[in-house]
Amino acid sequence: MEQYAIKGGNPLVGEVEIGGAKNAALGVLAAAIMTDDTVIVDNLPDVRDINVLMNAMESIGVVINRTDRHTVKINGSMIHGFVIEDEFIKKIRASYYLLGALLGKYKHGEVALPGGCNIGSRKIDLHIKGFKALGAEVKIEHGLIIAKAEKLKGAHIYLDTVSVGATINIMLAAVLAEGKTVIENAAKEPHVVDVANFLNSMGANIKGAGTDVVRITGVPRLHATEYSIIPDQIEAGTFMLAAAITKGDVTVKNVIPKHLESTSAKLIEMGCQIEESDDAVRVVASRRLESTQVKTLPYPGFPTDMQPQISVALALAQGTSIVTESIFDNRFKYVDELAKMGSDIKVEGNTAIIAGVKHFTSANLTAPDLRAGAALVLACLTAEGFSTVEDIKYIERGYEDFHIKLQGLGAQIDKVESDKDLQKFKFKVG
Ligand code: UD1
Repeated sequence: MEQYAIKGGNPLVGEVEIGGAKNAALGVLAAAIMTDDTVIVDNLPDVRDINVLMNAMESIGVVINRTDRHTVKINGSMIHGFVIEDEFIKKIRASYYLLGALLGKYKHGEVALPGGCNIGSRKIDLHIKGFKALGAEVKIEHGLIIAKAEKLKGAHIYLDTVSVGATINIMLAAVLAEGKTVIENAAKEPHVVDVANFLNSMGANIKGAGTDVVRITGVPRLHATEYSIIPDQIEAGTFMLAAAITKGDVTVKNVIPKHLESTSAKLIEMGCQIEESDDAVRVVASRRLESTQVKTLPYPGFPTDMQPQISVALALAQGTSIVTESIFDNRFKYVDELAKMGSDIKVEGNTAIIAGVKHFTSANLTAPDLRAGAALVLACLTAEGFSTVEDIKYIERGYEDFHIKLQGLGAQIDKVESDKDLQKFKFKVG
C-alpha cells in the first residue's frame, strides 16, 4: 500500500509553485455543465477530488477533454441523465454541486445523500432550504435527494449558518431562475467569489460575491467562456506552515497574498517573518515558534482547513496554546496520531489545549483525513529519523504532487509502495 517515507530534521528552503484551488474548481466544474456551449477551464489542480467529480459528470453524459494536465474542455450539451450515483458522492461530497447545476439548467437533479464525513457531521439542510425557496420540490427517497421544479423563481434566502457549499449550490440553482435572488449571510470565501466570477463570465448576473449578501438576477441562458481557477489558499498555507514548522525559509509563489492574511497574521504572532509581494509570500522561521490562540471561523477568519497544520506547529512552540474549532465537530482526530511523536495535546469538546514540546520523535502514522494527513507529514519533516504516513489517498484528494513539491524544498520524502521501496529509501537518504 502506498505511503510516504520521510526522514525529518532539515529545514525546508526554496520556492514552491501553488496550483489551482480545489474547492473553487469543484464549483466551477459543476457550473460548466450549465451551458450547451464548450467551456475551457485552466489552472485545474490534478488531484483526486477533481478527477472524481469529472467522472461523475461523465457518468451523466458531459463530454470532457483534458487538453493538458491542468486544462479541460467541457461540453454539457449531451447530458442524458439527472442522477448522480452514490459511488461518486461517497468519494467526494462536493458532487452535490451537480444537484444545484442540474436543477438550475434542467429543473431536475438527483444525487445520493451525502453521509457523515470523517471531520464531523456535515448537514445539507441549508442547500435544500435554498432550492425549496426557489420553487423546487425536494424530497429524499431511497437515499437520493430529488429536486424538481416546473420553473424556478428568484427568492430571498437567509442562511442560518455561513455555509460555503450552500452558498455555491444556491447560486448555481438561481442563475437561470426567473427574477432576483438574494442570499443573506452568504459565505465570503475566495472560492465562492471564483465560482461567481466564472458564472458571470458565462453571462450570469451575480453581484456581491465576497460580501455576506449575494444578489443574483436570473438570465435566460449561459454561454461559452475560458477561465483560469484562482490559486489554492490551503495548499499555499500548508507550505507556509511547512516553512514555520521546519524553521525554514520558503517562498510560496502564484498566490493571492490577501487570501492568506489570517495565516500570515498567526505566523507573525508565532515569531515568523513574512514578506509579501504581488503574487508570492515568503515565510522565514529562524527560531523556536511561540504559542498563540487560534479560532477557526468562516473567511476572512482563520480557515478550518488550516487548523491541523497550525496545531502541529503549536505543538512544537514555546508555551501553551489554545485552538478552538468552531466549524466542524470532529476535527481533532489527528491528535492521537501526533501523540505517537511525543506531542502533549488535550482535547476538550471543540478545544485543543496544546502544551508545546521541544521536538517530535519519528513514528509510523496514519492519515485520518485530507488536511490532517498533510499536517502529519509536516510533523514527520521535523522529527529526526525515519517516519511513515499511511493512507495517503486522503492527502492526494487535495494536494497535487505533495511529496515532489516538498522534495523541491529539500525535504527527504518519497512515496513508497512496499517494504522493499522503504528499505531503498532508507538506504538512499542514509
Ligand atoms: C467547504 C470546503 C471545506 C471547508 C469548509 C469550511 C469545499 C468542497 N469544501 O465545505 O474544505 O472545510 O467549506 O470552510 O469547498 N452546515 C449546515 N447545513 C448545511 C450546510 C452546512 O448546518 O446545509 C454547517 C456545517 O455542518 C458546518 C458549517 O455549516 O458546521 C460550514 O460548512 P460548509 O461551509 O457548508 O462546508 P462545506 O461546503 O461542506
